[in-house]
Amino acid sequence: MLAQPEYQPQIITLEDPEKVAYFVVTQIIALVNRKANAVMTIPTGKTPERAYELLVEAVRKGEVDFDKVILRMLDEYQWLKRNDPRTFQNQLRKLLINPIHFPNIQFQTINSYPETDSPKEADRYEKLISATPSDIVILGIGQNGHIGFNEPLSPFDSRTRVVQLSDNTLAANKKDIQRHGQYTPEYAITQGIGNILEADRIVMMATGESKADIIRQALKGEINTDVPASALRTRQNVLFVLDSAAASQL
Ligand code: F6R
Repeated sequence: MLAQPEYQPQIITLEDPEKVAYFVVTQIIALVNRKANAVMTIPTGKTPERAYELLVEAVRKGEVDFDKVILRMLDEYQWLKRNDPRTFQNQLRKLLINPIHFPNIQFQTINSYPETDSPKEADRYEKLISATPSDIVILGIGQNGHIGFNEPLSPFDSRTRVVQLSDNTLAANKKDIQRHGQYTPEYAITQGIGNILEADRIVMMATGESKADIIRQALKGEINTDVPASALRTRQNVLFVLDSAAASQL
C-alpha cells in the first residue's frame, strides 16, 4: 500500500456503555443544533441501541429538532423480505425513525430485497449518497475490525457495494439473525470505506471487553486492510468513544 499520512484519532474513555451512549448523543445534538440539515450515517447493531433511546428522549423533550436532518443507512443485509424484523431498516425504524416520527423522505435506505438485483441496488445507493457526503458517520466495530460490513481486505477506497459476510461476522451475528431456523443472510450492501472516510466527522462507538483486542489493533496496530477500522487513522476528525472495558488494552 502507498505511504499515507497517519493521524491520531481523539479517544474518549468513559466508565460504562450508558455514558458512551450519552456522550455520543450529545455530539449528535451539538451537530444538529449547529447544522439543522445535517446528513448523518447511522449504524445498527447492539452498540448504538441505547444512544437511539436517548436520542428519542431528547427529540421528545425538544432538546433537538430533527425536522431537516437526513438520516442514511450504513449497511443492510440482502435477501431478507422487507417486513422481516431482522433487516437493519426495520430495526432502525423501530428504535429511532418511528418513535420520532421522522419523515420517510429524509430517511435514505438500502433495500434488503431489491426489486432488481443487489448490485443495481448498491449502485443506486452509491449515486444517492455520493452527491452529498455525510456530515457525520456513527460507527460500531466488528470483532474482526469491520466497519459497516467492510470486512477484512476491503480496500480503503471501496465504495458502496455488495459484500459477502465473513464467517467471523456470521458467527457474531448468529444469535440475532438465525432465530427460528430462518434463512441467514450471507450477503449485505455496505457503504464502502471510501464513503465513510469522506464524511466530515467520524464517531466510533465501542463497548465491552469483547471489543478490547480489536480496538487495540485498530488504534495501535499497523494500518492495513487486515483491520478495516485502522483506515480511520488515515484521516483527521475521528473520535473513538469507548467504555473502560473496550479501552482496557490500550
Ligand atoms: C451495523 C454495522 C456493524 C456493527 C458491528 C458491531 O450497521 O455496520 O459494523 O456496527 O458489527 O455490532 P455490535 O454493535 O452489535 O457489536
